[in-house]
Amino acid sequence: MMSFEIPPGLTDLLQEFTVAVLRERPSNLVTFAANYFNKLNDINTDGTNEFNKGGGVRFIENASPERIENSDEPMQTESEDEAFEPPPPSSRYRRKSVSAETYNPETDDDLGEAKIVNPKSDIQRQRLADVVKDILLFRSLDPEQMQEVLDAMFEKRVAPGEHIIDQGDDGDYFYVIDSGTYDIYVLIEGQPKLVGNYDNSGFFGELALMYNMPRAATITASSQGKIWALDRTTFRRIVLKSAFEKRKKYETLLEHVPLLKSLDVYERMNVADALLSRTFEDGVQIIKQGDAAECMYFLESGKVRIAMVNKNDPSAGEKDVTTLEKGGYFGELALVTHQPRAASAYAIGQVKCAVLDVHAFERLMGPCMDVLKRNIGDYEEQLSKIFGKSMSMKDIR
Ligand code: CMP
Ligand code: CMP
Repeated sequence: MMSFEIPPGLTDLLQEFTVAVLRERPSNLVTFAANYFNKLNDINTDGTNEFNKGGGVRFIENASPERIENSDEPMQTESEDEAFEPPPPSSRYRRKSVSAETYNPETDDDLGEAKIVNPKSDIQRQRLADVVKDILLFRSLDPEQMQEVLDAMFEKRVAPGEHIIDQGDDGDYFYVIDSGTYDIYVLIEGQPKLVGNYDNSGFFGELALMYNMPRAATITASSQGKIWALDRTTFRRIVLKSAFEKRKKYETLLEHVPLLKSLDVYERMNVADALLSRTFEDGVQIIKQGDAAECMYFLESGKVRIAMVNKNDPSAGEKDVTTLEKGGYFGELALVTHQPRAASAYAIGQVKCAVLDVHAFERLMGPCMDVLKRNIGDYEEQLSKIFGKSMSMKDIR
């Protein structure tokens, strides 16, 4: 009798193909098979190739193996408005390797102009626009770029316990949270450690796409939820350049701000996303004592003079308290104490500041709070030197 050896992988390959056929019910089996195996071949042999690179609407008839393994993906049944089924991300057919690529924003324009459009109802589109409006990584997109990003995104429903990202995998999608809660685990000495969570807002999955590195954390759903996914190509082609440059620009500054030593690299990157630069000409008042506070400042260049009127002795006028230099910060006190500005700040020479608004401050600066409060203690000493016993911290707290 002849004996046959079944090559490794054949059974899985055929099984998956069969599932794909059953799911997609193609009208032309041969065309479907040709498409299916061609795409599979592209993925397996060419790390730089991607689905849809050639462009057009993401859902070409019977095409994408990405849809195959998601037979457990809940169909959307809620309303007619949600009748479009998204192409859900798959882990099995994700990119095998991205390590050969390096990102150079100046030259990385080889991703083509191919637009991906995932059809959406008006309600879905409106909802998505609402969800992404606070996503800092999208902040610098112009309306046309924003439109393209919205077109390319698609909705994915998740169940409690579902792994959306696994640490160590290659990056394929960037996700924006619509609803639901999500846990973040990072392997520390081989053990997954819960390092944070997202509660009905935020985004994740940008690091692997930005830096061409494996996923840095595992993200699991801790409730039912809905997320919006953006494919890697569109992310890199439209979002990456500005976001990457912004992170790079502020990374160096933030590394040199002693206050931020208590943030880890990832937390500092989030601060970088939230910063906006402002310049002030010599002598300009940046902060006015007594005003309500909306932001704090990191000094990028130039110097800033802090001056104060003693509320208990206003006739004595404004006195200089201190001068701040690059790497310093100011305007945090009112955000910590929820009081009006305790002092005024003036530019000495041309001053450039990176500004963090109060919402980002509250969201991102938690880990620095101990240091912030400790430093506020130093103000007291300063004030008693300048104003004597006529003023103490309780006057500005
Ligand atoms: P990425 O590495 O692509 O996939 C996992 C994501 O988890 C990562 O991008 C970040 O968006 C997100 N994340 C949240 N907290 C952390 C953290 N402390 N370290 C690394 N990634 C984190
Ligand atoms: P804020 O009160 O928000 O605005 C004025 C800023 O001046 C204040 O935050 C501090 O960042 C800064 N500052 C520097 N030195 C002092 C000081 N001795 N007392 C109070 N504020 C000071």
